[in-house]
Amino acid sequence: MATELWLPTPYDNNRPNPAQAWLDPLNNGGTSLSRLVVQGGCRLRGNVRIGGRKNSVVAVIPATIVCGGVSRLENIPHITDVEVFTEMLRELGADLEWTSNGCGSGLLISTANVTPAKVPYHLAKKLRASYYLLGALLGRFGEAEIPLPGGCDIGLRPIDQHVKGFESLGAEVTVEGGVVRARADRLVGTTVYLDVVSVGATINIMLAAVLAEGLTVIENAAKEPHIVDLANYLNACGARVQGAGTDVIRIRGVSKDEMHGATHAVIPDEIEAATFMIAACATHGDVTIENVIPKHLAPVSAKLEEIGANVWENGDVVRVWSNGHRPKAVHITTLPYPGFPTDAQQPMTSLLSVAVGTSMITETIWEGRFKHIQELNRMGTRIKVEGRTAIIEGVPALSAAPIQATDLRAAAALVVAGLMAEGETEISGVEHIDRGYDKVVDKLRLLGARVRREP
Ligand code: EPZ
Repeated sequence: MATELWLPTPYDNNRPNPAQAWLDPLNNGGTSLSRLVVQGGCRLRGNVRIGGRKNSVVAVIPATIVCGGVSRLENIPHITDVEVFTEMLRELGADLEWTSNGCGSGLLISTANVTPAKVPYHLAKKLRASYYLLGALLGRFGEAEIPLPGGCDIGLRPIDQHVKGFESLGAEVTVEGGVVRARADRLVGTTVYLDVVSVGATINIMLAAVLAEGLTVIENAAKEPHIVDLANYLNACGARVQGAGTDVIRIRGVSKDEMHGATHAVIPDEIEAATFMIAACATHGDVTIENVIPKHLAPVSAKLEEIGANVWENGDVVRVWSNGHRPKAVHITTLPYPGFPTDAQQPMTSLLSVAVGTSMITETIWEGRFKHIQELNRMGTRIKVEGRTAIIEGVPALSAAPIQATDLRAAAALVVAGLMAEGETEISGVEHIDRGYDKVVDKLRLLGARVRREP
């Protein structure tokens, strides 16, 4: 029998739930509550504070290996991808401890005793970013042995550009038995042209190049904000990285004794922010989102205004409120930053499923990032997929149904749909959302959502 976890106060749609320090049971003793039950029809209202960006944290943590010494990372979200990374670093000999200060959690990491040991498969397979250990260990020790990574099942997710970068620097790379092995007597700077704009390859080559001899130039580099964030951390540790955020990044190699730890606060997670902005629109709510960098949200804000929502920016705050009508249909194409982020595509699909008119979303990054659609269609949406394009014929309303999350952002999309649907939607596979959204149930409930976890 599920514990009734609704807030004790009488439910009132017009009054946000009390700001109660309500610990989400998952964070409370780790019971495996892998389903979410979402009651539709609640307008989200109030303030929500965004955590550190998942995709930045999973790059900066392995980067502490390159820097050596002791680093203090701040604005670190309590998400399972971070938990797994701390386990992997401990396996390699690092010392880590969680810290907390006034505005959130942090990690104190010492990597002085790290050795290029083999990372266990059962950990590496849990996330994509485990492959950043390749660049970090190769860069510092000249050798690395990492199982092929896991992560969201959204496409083939090749690593050929990572291998190209390591080999260009002088490493010998083999992939056999599901393990990537890289080794080099010395790494020598060179120019690497990425055949495809790849966030992961850009980051991995940066990590390998910091201690390489001479100048490394990455051309056709990814420009995501978390690449800039990583460069800022590396430079604070003594590295010499220039051009992050542009498509040409230059890394001048330094010696190990020039490197040291540093204190670094990770940038806010604009995909978490985008998800709450979309949920605010989907529920005809009014939500103020704190601790954001509005520029990072520009493509999402622009699209939400196109569909008829109101977006107001002020410093590190964005307020989003609905105009009370169904969204207008729009067309979206996902692109590398500063284009519309692929990671916001799935929650946006849920919102557009009730638009007036037919929307089209073309997914240019991941060929397998439409698995949420079959689940949405169980709720009464009318979406079909032709190649890389989802054609979304708007319907007036969704109806609750038991649905299954298949990846991180699909889970977010299904929660948005549940918030919109008539009735109680049961979403299984919620372990996916815990990979990238810190205290998601707490945050939704503080905004007035009726959502609970169940076994
Ligand atoms: C990162 O994945 C993010 N993950 C993804 O977020 C995000 O969707 C993606 O960047 C794009 O922004 C992390 O940062 C941990 P890519 P990554 O290399 O690095 C092709 C989420 O929801 N490619 O930029 O794996 C690839 O197939 C996750 O938070 C190659 O062909 O993505 C894709 O089409 C999901 N060869 C395109 O490049 C390679 O060697 C972009 O991939 C590498 C990539």
